[in-house]
Amino acid sequence: MKPTDDPSLITRVEHETWERCANSYVDGFGALVCGSITPLLDAACVETDSRVLDIGTGPGIVAAAVRERQATPIGIDFSESMIAEARRRNPGIEFKQANAEALPFDSLQFDAVVSNFVLHHLACPSKVLSEAYRVLREGGKAAFTVWSDFTKLAGFGLFLDAMEKHGNLEMPHGPLFGVSDPGTFHDMFR
Ligand SMILES: C[S@@+](CC[C@H](N)C(=O)[O-])C[C@H]1O[C@@H](n2cnc3c(N)ncnc32)[C@H](O)[C@@H]1O
Repeated sequence: MKPTDDPSLITRVEHETWERCANSYVDGFGALVCGSITPLLDAACVETDSRVLDIGTGPGIVAAAVRERQATPIGIDFSESMIAEARRRNPGIEFKQANAEALPFDSLQFDAVVSNFVLHHLACPSKVLSEAYRVLREGGKAAFTVWSDFTKLAGFGLFLDAMEKHGNLEMPHGPLFGVSDPGTFHDMFR
């Protein structure tokens, strides 16, 4: 596939792909993405009574972990089928269908903003970081995870090999997929 830097094309392909993945995501990727949840929530200082926004919540795995800390999660995702899956799996947690580039919240609303393995799928990651910053209260914390370089990820390597051999699974590729260069993220966060 030819890489593209056309933001609207990236967003469309990502959206279409995630729409198709909602039912199989937890059984396929669930175990892989769970490992980072505790450090992610620790980095964002999520504790009892924190109000926490989970950007790109998918089926709500991180939102559920936020609730386990006696905090209040709200999950957003632009995929309608992911949101339906998140609601089905996590009754009582609030989920909204929304594009992370334009969060449907007033400013200064959240004690923490987290996002697990989403940043590298975004057409305009810096727009989403600006939105995350806007909705954070003063002194609030944001934390994000991305994959490391694939050559350093034994588990991911096995998974990709298996997919290539046996699966018809498809993975969306945002502009930063497989890029974990601290310099890239440092500039973006600034
Ligand atoms: C790799 S999944 C991660 C799901 C979840 N955070 C987890 O850890 O299981 C990426 C999610 O980001 C969502 N996503 C991608 N681009 C988005 C955007 N612009 N706005 C909102 N959600 C987005 C996708 O629909 C998908 O559910």
